[in-house]
Amino acid sequence: MTDNDTKLLCLIGDPVEHSLSPVMHSAIFEKLDLDCFYLVLRVEREWLEASVKGLKALDCLGFNVTIPHKVAIVEHLDEVSEEASTIGAVNTVKNEDGILKGFNTDGTGAIKALEEKTKIKGKRAILVGAGGAARAIAFHLALEGAGKLVIANRTVEKAQALASEVKDMTGIETDACALKEDELKKIISESEILVNATSVGMHPDVDKTPIPKTLLHPGLVVMDIVYNPLETPLLREAKNVGAKTVDGAAMLVHQGAESLKIWLSIEPPLEVMRKAVLEVLEK
Ligand code: ATR
Repeated sequence: MTDNDTKLLCLIGDPVEHSLSPVMHSAIFEKLDLDCFYLVLRVEREWLEASVKGLKALDCLGFNVTIPHKVAIVEHLDEVSEEASTIGAVNTVKNEDGILKGFNTDGTGAIKALEEKTKIKGKRAILVGAGGAARAIAFHLALEGAGKLVIANRTVEKAQALASEVKDMTGIETDACALKEDELKKIISESEILVNATSVGMHPDVDKTPIPKTLLHPGLVVMDIVYNPLETPLLREAKNVGAKTVDGAAMLVHQGAESLKIWLSIEPPLEVMRKAVLEVLEK
């Protein structure tokens, strides 16, 4: 139920129809009895600027930003956090008395999800992917003090560019390689954390994995950002060899929780958010 004091939060992106953010956030509003409403708005590229102005004019408390606007949004904001500016992308905006401030909670969300299973400091990590999601995670792994970070990507030039950028900005040891079995073999055998930040394994390609199962070993913590399906072939095969796993819903919930902290200064109960997400995913 909304009333005259209801605070508006929303998601802008395109496509947005399969987003789990509304159920996740609405579950918290209900649980904590918060007078807020989370709306999903499909915004095409050419309407981004007008939409942002409109949300400001309507005194929207804050919004999430998703594909394809995470980078383009930056120039329409009044301020951007240091973290989001380093990553070059924003997924959360807070409206503070007409000042729009941009944040990035994707990287923090991934780190918090990983930290449920492992420390990061000093650990050797391999990150698969070099797109927007990988970028946020790469900087955060480095800032958390990963011992070494190797970025593996189908287009190796993108992995090399990201690896050298992370090294220059954080000083940690980085390397890059192609997504090829012979190149991955030694690196994975020496790694303690493996994160898939590509869309490989996502519905409808539910039998695909970015990493051959023969390369997985029990000394790894394996995280997949794909949450649909919840158990990707990568996670299933990791479990089969005795590795610890972190699913994409964990990251989704943590990044959502970080957004709620920014907007409302609350500590949302994570289990309520996860339950709401799983109810939809398991349907
Ligand atoms: P996002 O913002 O979700 O990270 P993106 O920026 O388009 O999306 O990045 C997608 C990532 O998934 C890239 O690392 C991409 O590899 P390329 O840089 O070589 O394109 C990776 N990716 C997508 N489909 C893939 C596939 N079938 N095999 C391997 N990597 C794939």
